[in-house]
Amino acid sequence: MEIVVFGAGSLGSLVGGVLAREHDVTLVARSAHAEAVRDDGLTVTGVTDFCVSPSATTDGQGLAADLAIVAVKAADSKAAAETLATGSFDAVLSLQNGMGNEETLASHLESPVLAGTATYGAVLRNPGVVECTGLGEVVLGSRTGGRSSLADRVGDAFDTAGLETTVAADMPRRLWKKLAVNAAINPVTALANVDNGAVLEPPTTDLARSAARETAGVARACGVELSDQEAISAMERVATATAANTSSMRQDVLADRRTEIDAINGYVVDRAADHDCAAPTNRALTALIRSWERGIGHR
Ligand code: PAF
Repeated sequence: MEIVVFGAGSLGSLVGGVLAREHDVTLVARSAHAEAVRDDGLTVTGVTDFCVSPSATTDGQGLAADLAIVAVKAADSKAAAETLATGSFDAVLSLQNGMGNEETLASHLESPVLAGTATYGAVLRNPGVVECTGLGEVVLGSRTGGRSSLADRVGDAFDTAGLETTVAADMPRRLWKKLAVNAAINPVTALANVDNGAVLEPPTTDLARSAARETAGVARACGVELSDQEAISAMERVATATAANTSSMRQDVLADRRTEIDAINGYVVDRAADHDCAAPTNRALTALIRSWERGIGHR
């Protein structure tokens, strides 16, 4: 299968690297990374260890492939969609944190848009080198729910390359479950400057559990069946599997980059307001991260 990965940062590079063992992959990446991959290939270290030679470019305009995987930050979804619209793809798969990305992509594109979540831990160590810091899985399917033969085809292609993949018929619910995981792990680890595993223990565990529990409550208010215990267990499973990992929001804060708070905890707060329910933990986490972003000029 011909696959283009838009946004070859940490997760995009890891997923693209694994897929490149079996498929014809092109990474759309920042210049130093694209240049290093073109010169020396992409090295994957950590839990899994190999080197592959995908194509790499900085210019995503006018590309064509069977599948485009979008792995850019949530705030960059619109720009990615505009670039994708200049090319031609049989399918587009969002593998991003936060909510609303699939709708943004679908509103700009004629290609069918699939929803996906990924719980692999990944850190881009150097241009051309990505470390896999925790094995997880990819879950993908129709963004509106139900079975999709296109999702089955993409799932088969991922499986063939050795990417742990589940094709699911309940993606809206899966996206909310992943949102609960990110709403709990990401801001707490970023604010406390700790690895993911720290949310399993005091003093941060109550805060993380509260963010996950609240997110499940808001999901139910939105008509999505997600129990408090399911959300908390999902968060604890991911925190255990990626215990030594630096969450993407902590990576953003450490690098003085804008975070994905608006599409994660900010989204929970907005949906809670729509349905007149309280989300004090998500509200406090959102305010703290936004205040940090304002302090360094991102707002
Ligand atoms: O955003 C992240 O860092 C990841 O989605 C996850 C699963 C929390 C692992 O670090």
